[in-house]
Amino acid sequence: RRLVASSPVASQDLDDLLRGGIETGSITEIFGEFRTGKTQLCHTLCVTTQLPLEQARPGWAEHFPDTSQTLPGHFPAKLWGGAEGKAMYIDTEGTFRPERLCEIAEKYGLDGAHSPRRRADVLDNVAYARAYNSEHQLQLLAEAAGMMSDTRFGLIIIDSATGLYRTDYSGRGELSARQMHLAKFLRALSNLAAQFGVACVITNQAGAPPGARRRAPHGPVVAQVDGGASFGDNKKPIGGNIIAHASTTRLYFRKGRGENRVCKVYDSPCLPEGEATFAIHGAGIGD
Ligand code: GTP
Ligand code: MG
Repeated sequence: RRLVASSPVASQDLDDLLRGGIETGSITEIFGEFRTGKTQLCHTLCVTTQLPLEQARPGWAEHFPDTSQTLPGHFPAKLWGGAEGKAMYIDTEGTFRPERLCEIAEKYGLDGAHSPRRRADVLDNVAYARAYNSEHQLQLLAEAAGMMSDTRFGLIIIDSATGLYRTDYSGRGELSARQMHLAKFLRALSNLAAQFGVACVITNQAGAPPGARRRAPHGPVVAQVDGGASFGDNKKPIGGNIIAHASTTRLYFRKGRGENRVCKVYDSPCLPEGEATFAIHGAGIGD
């Protein structure tokens, strides 16, 4: 499958790392510890996915000619400007903030400064649903499919994909039931991404990936950490293998120097391994 960028983000470094955006037609997982910007990136993508197709970032096509292909029946690959589509946001933690979308929209000139109608449009173009338990989270995908067959969507977000599983299946002996349900959810999501050619972003609160080295704030490498081992029991990453299997692209977010955040390509069929630094602003992800 070709790399198809649907939604540029607002940081040059991150755009470069992701070669312009999030792949359509497959699942991109963003995992990382709390407050590393996963939700903030999701908010930014809700706006950028609405940008016109032709809003290109100069130079991309020359840099990466392999990405200027078209996936049949779906979006052209050179979507450095946006997907000209709506976004669907499935929120499991109650952290969605529409006001934030307005601030981001302003940055991209989609604000209501000249036309109150346009600000309303930015919010109208985001279909929002709060999921209350893991079964409901799965049911919402069926509703999403119904909406996608009527209207052009560029993006679906599940923030977070795993949180409700943590609370719904907390007992001993429920692990296999949990993994089975999560696998079913991810299969349905994967089908949705492929069928409608939308970019699909899921978040997952998780510790450092296996093999990552944790550094003391100013010192040398102090320990080799295993996925989530340094968290309390309720913070262990959930569904590791199942999610890894379902996600085509996996991005790991961590805190960097000061208020900066770092994104690392942890797994991808078409992106080189690498890291990008970005910042979080009132108007979303930036340099
Ligand atoms: P969990 O959902 O808890 O796993 O975290 P997350 O990775 O989703 O984190 P989130 O995207 O919510 O990022 C929270 C971080 O964004 C906090 O560290 C805030 O400092 C930062 N942040 C949020 N809003 C603003 C803002 O308006 N300005 C600035 N400078 N930072 C902000
Ligand atoms: Mg979050």
